[in-house]
Amino acid sequence: MNTKFKAIQDKVKAFLHGGDYNPDQWLRYPEIIKEDYRLMKLAHCNAFSLNIFGWSAIEPEEGKYSFEWLDNTMDRLAAQGAYVILATPSGARPAWMSQKYPEVLRVQPNRQRNLHGQRHNHCYTSPVYREKTQNINRILADRYKDHPALIMWHVSNEYGGECHCNLCQEAFRDWLKVKYGTLEDLNHAWWTSFWSHTYTDWSQIESPAPHGENFVHAHNLDWKRFVTDQTIDFYKNEIVPLRELTPDIPVTTNFMGNHPHMGPFLGLDYHKFAKEVDVVTWDTYPAWHNDTQDTSDLSSDVSFMHDLYRSLKQQPFLIMENTPSLVNWHPVNKPKRPNMHKLASLQAVAHGADSNLYFQWRKGRGASEKFHGAVVDHAGHENTRVFREVAEIGEILERIAEVIGSTIDAEVAIIYDWENQWAIDDLQGLKLEKKNYIETCQAHYKAFWKQGIPVDIVASEADLSKYKLVVAPMLYMIRQGVAENLEAFVSGGGTLVSTYWSGIVNENDLTFLGGFPGPLGKLLGIWAEEIDSLYDSETNELLFTGDEAHGMGKLSGEGRYSASDYCEVIHVETATVLAEYQSEYYKGMPAVTVNEFGSGQAFYMASRNEQRFLDDFYNRLSSNLELAKALETELPKGVSVSTRSHGKTNYTFVMNFNESESTITLPASNSYQELINDKVVSGTVKLKPYEVLILKRD
Ligand code: GLA
Ligand code: ZN
Repeated sequence: MNTKFKAIQDKVKAFLHGGDYNPDQWLRYPEIIKEDYRLMKLAHCNAFSLNIFGWSAIEPEEGKYSFEWLDNTMDRLAAQGAYVILATPSGARPAWMSQKYPEVLRVQPNRQRNLHGQRHNHCYTSPVYREKTQNINRILADRYKDHPALIMWHVSNEYGGECHCNLCQEAFRDWLKVKYGTLEDLNHAWWTSFWSHTYTDWSQIESPAPHGENFVHAHNLDWKRFVTDQTIDFYKNEIVPLRELTPDIPVTTNFMGNHPHMGPFLGLDYHKFAKEVDVVTWDTYPAWHNDTQDTSDLSSDVSFMHDLYRSLKQQPFLIMENTPSLVNWHPVNKPKRPNMHKLASLQAVAHGADSNLYFQWRKGRGASEKFHGAVVDHAGHENTRVFREVAEIGEILERIAEVIGSTIDAEVAIIYDWENQWAIDDLQGLKLEKKNYIETCQAHYKAFWKQGIPVDIVASEADLSKYKLVVAPMLYMIRQGVAENLEAFVSGGGTLVSTYWSGIVNENDLTFLGGFPGPLGKLLGIWAEEIDSLYDSETNELLFTGDEAHGMGKLSGEGRYSASDYCEVIHVETATVLAEYQSEYYKGMPAVTVNEFGSGQAFYMASRNEQRFLDDFYNRLSSNLELAKALETELPKGVSVSTRSHGKTNYTFVMNFNESESTITLPASNSYQELINDKVVSGTVKLKPYEVLILKRD
């Protein structure tokens, strides 16, 4: 485990519960600030993020500082035994800075420079902004380095977005020079002879623009890679004084999710960024109770996200923000129904979170977030449903403190790859609006979630040696070394599942020649000739007859499943056919195959198949591979389980995502200590709607 993260766990033997606290918005209301401290105790809150957008409050004029409010807040929190996650303020800047140094402001893809305003509106390259942020960070680190409340640095806020100013253009060109060396190599990698786009001088290259170049996919891809690298570089510049002055204080920055579909933020490659933080933290805002997904489907997607962010460092992560009730920026802002807050908070814990922090402690009076959920509402007191639910979860977290630091052991990994997502989203082809890479990863994940089988979500280059099964849906882009990584895994006895639209392009988005799935061909034992995209109204059918010799006989019923969106037309070379298409000109051709490779097996699903197929297929595969479950029992629909373990002691979270009661049967002859209600349970257990149980067993 990362030693910096251990530093928090050693210091703070409690779940972090609290969140973004902005006394800087309330300096004219001393009574309210006084009241905050009373309410914090009542809410069982013990950790607060300060100064996230505090720059104009600590440096109201250039070089003139005022730390009184921050000193007071830190001291008062320390006095009541609470912890501070101290933010560097670069997420927004004072007006004087934008006025005096316009270069700090971001330039849009259309090359228009923004005015001062909003937040996150800065250039990642600007030497002035880099100097200003490092300067204020140094002052903060120097001032608070020995403060007893300080447990972690919250660097900036939700890094994201891009800048297209001249400084960034120059930095992009320099980045390209390092990557390609010569223009000839860049021209080849970008396939610029297409539409006569060949570059003859580096200065001709610009970032993608809506009114300029945006159809050269490798160019778009390199720009996205550059944005990740430049953002990380900016972050590294920010943390220089923190590392120097507070070497033992862990450093993080809050990662984001994506909406309305619950997936990862797509603007940055978090596999790269995670290497630079001591602990992964993320901000989770699912639209619970929406009208397009039932609660259990949504909770599977949310669970995927927690597992993805936990897997980034293979250690417990932190929820840096979630809302105690509602947000203000979903199309429909619905409060969490009674008990959903507890359920969603404990779901994060179940998947490896060691905190439950909120945006925000208290609702502001003005500006755009005044109607965003908070622990303390405009009413200003503790007599609200939301406050009571927050206090209740605070108490529960105190009761289950022994869970902190425990881990999840997964034998299954699903590959999710940001660059692959970028390349798929950008390509012109398939069904333009339904490429659905992340949704496909989440559909495969759901088959394991339903069974209570723990899953890691990993990068293409991850060390796969500890897994029995690796699932790599739609791995369109195969960077150098990836095919070798998968081959080594399978030949060593691992099982791989791959799908349609894999092995199509290399890292520069140049297609492989000689048949798809390119470098995965030998491993999968097939070749793909073409891909059929189906209109939404169309389906094909596959008949899964299976093959007992491969441990994959008939699945369930007649073995008929429907396929939609994509049917790839493939030929077997060394693979065995398990299912065939039932209509179209490819009727009778293979739809699912398996190939023996070394001591392992590699499956290929040539079409996008209904969830029922994935469920049946992975059920069989899981029992063949004897994959361990979080709880050895049949789970009713909508009931999810996840087990965190400290070696000998296991904590199994049983979560009912149904709006109705559910019943589970615990493995016979086992009895468990249930930590929330503090009682012994065994046999058949009823779960109320949205109820969570935490079962401890040594
Ligand atoms: C983000 C930001 C917060 C706040 C919340 C609102 O996560 O980091 O400052 O704006 O959204 O949901
Ligand atoms: Zn810039």
